[in-house]
Amino acid sequence: MHNPVLKSKLSATLAAAILLASTTILADESFEKEIEYRQGAMNILSWNMKHIGGMLKGKTPYDAEKIKTHAADIASVASLNIMAGFPEDSTGEDSSALEDIWMDFENFEQKMADFKKAAKGMNMAAQSGDKAAVGKAMGALGKSCKGCHKPFKN
Ligand code: HEC
Repeated sequence: MHNPVLKSKLSATLAAAILLASTTILADESFEKEIEYRQGAMNILSWNMKHIGGMLKGKTPYDAEKIKTHAADIASVASLNIMAGFPEDSTGEDSSALEDIWMDFENFEQKMADFKKAAKGMNMAAQSGDKAAVGKAMGALGKSCKGCHKPFKN
């Protein structure tokens, strides 16, 4: 090609086309990892709660030491920055997160704070070894999950 102006115009067009194509691909998959991250955190919570719940209901033998470990793990997840998994408008096909999260973000943050507090309470109750306190704390913890799922999860 002998025309340098035309040549640079062409390469600019090509560059723009490549950029457009790559952002389209990115837009399709951009939140996949964030969604996996937050669902991962949620699944750790529910796995541990299921085990505590089973013991409280007598499905499995009550074991205060096991409850301590489960509650400590719930508290560990609560200490993570789970919000990092909820960037703005990060909905997706494999996600049951509702758009309302980002339309009412302060409320969502409040629900997260409520959960963190309940997780701390659960951990303290478990470490005390008092079964009645564990039952009570478990009720509050379960409420904190539902308190967020109801408005913000499909
Ligand atoms: C501040 C809000 C909030 C709190 C608190 C919360 N969740 Fe969630 N949870 C969500 C949202 C939003 C989703 C949907 C995430 C997605 O699919 O992208 C979800 C999804 C889930 C899922 C499904 C995960 C998957 O693989 O699809 C489980 C299980 C779950 N939560 C358990 C819990 C438990 C147990 C608690 C309490 C100990 C809890 N959550 C507390 C907001 C919350």
